[in-house]
Amino acid sequence: MDSGMQSIIEGHVPVLLEEVLDAFKPVLEMPASPRVLDCTLGGGGHAEALLEACPKLLLSGVDRDSAAIERVSRRLSRFADRISLAQSDYCDFPDAFERKERDEYHGIFADLGVSSFQLDQAERGFSFTKRGPLDMRMDQSQALSASTVVNEYEFSRLAGVFLRGECGALSHPLAKAIESSRPVQDTLELADICSRVAEKQRRKAPRKRAHAATLPFQAIRIEVNGELRSLETFLSRIPESLLPGGRLVIISFHSTEDRFVARMMREWSREPQELRFLPEPSEKQTLGRLLTKKALVPTDSEQEQNPRSRSARMRIFERC
Ligand SMILES: C[S@@+](CC[C@H](N)C(=O)[O-])C[C@H]1O[C@@H](n2cnc3c(N)ncnc32)[C@H](O)[C@@H]1O
Repeated sequence: MDSGMQSIIEGHVPVLLEEVLDAFKPVLEMPASPRVLDCTLGGGGHAEALLEACPKLLLSGVDRDSAAIERVSRRLSRFADRISLAQSDYCDFPDAFERKERDEYHGIFADLGVSSFQLDQAERGFSFTKRGPLDMRMDQSQALSASTVVNEYEFSRLAGVFLRGECGALSHPLAKAIESSRPVQDTLELADICSRVAEKQRRKAPRKRAHAATLPFQAIRIEVNGELRSLETFLSRIPESLLPGGRLVIISFHSTEDRFVARMMREWSREPQELRFLPEPSEKQTLGRLLTKKALVPTDSEQEQNPRSRSARMRIFERC
C-alpha cells in the first residue's frame, strides 16, 4: 500500500474503540459465527477492529456515502469472504442487502454523525474552517443540500432547524441574519454570519462555547441529511432485527440524538408491569436490558489525542 493511501485510511480515528470491542465481547465470543451490522462504516476503523477481534465474524456494513463504501471495500479487502457492504441509509438496513442475506443480527453498531474524511474535504461543505460549497450531503445523489436550507427556507422554518439543533436563543437571530445576507455563497461566509450573531449575543449573555459555528453547522447538516428521522426509523426496526443475546451499541455526538437513543433503550428495558396501563400491553414486552445507565464517554487521554471524540456518548443495550 502506498503512503498516500495509508494516510487516507488513517484519516478517521475510531472513537471509543476499546469500549466498543468490550461492549461486543459476548457477541464476538459466541460459538457460532456471529453476524454484526455496522450501520455507519465511515473509514472502516471499528469494522476492521471487530473483524480482527473475531475470525468467525460475518460483518454487514452500510454507509450513505458512496465514497465511504469505496474506501472501506479497499481497506477490508482481506476480509472479502466475511463482509457484505452496501450504500444505504441505515434506517433502510433490512432492505440494504440481497434478499438471501438474513437481516437479523447478534450485534448492531452505529457511530453517528460525520467522518473526518467528510469534514476534511472542503468540497463536501461540512467544515466551517475551510471554504467550500454549501453542500453537506452525505449521499451526494440526494436533491436537498445546505444551500437550499440556507438560501431558500423561509425564516420560521430555518429558525426551527436551529431550535431542533439546540442553538437555543441564537436560533431566531441566526435565521434573521442569514435571511438578510442571502444569497450566502459558501461555508466561510456562513461561519462568519454565525460568529457575528454569537458575538452580539455574547455581549448580552456571556457564555463559553466551542466555535460559534459548531452547533449551527451541525443543525443544518442534521436537517440536510434527515438525521433525526433516520435515527427514529432505525430504532423502530431494532426489535425485529436484534437476535436474543445480541447487543446494540450506539455512539452519538449530539444531545438530541443521544436523548432519542437513551429514551428508546429505556423504553425497551421497562418491566411489563410498568407498561400495564399502556394500550396493547402484549406488544409492549420487555425487550432486554440497558447496560449503560449513564452514557460512556471517552477518557481524558482519548479526548486529548482525538479532540473530535469530545462530545461522544455511547450507550449499550442487550436483547434478552
Ligand atoms: C462517525 S463516521 C463513522 C466512523 C466509523 N465508525 C469508523 O470507524 O471509521 C459516521 C459515518 O456514518 C455515515 N452516516 C451518517 N448517517 C447515516 C445514515 N443515516 N445512514 C448511513 N450512513 C450514515 C456517514 O456518512 C459517515 O461516514
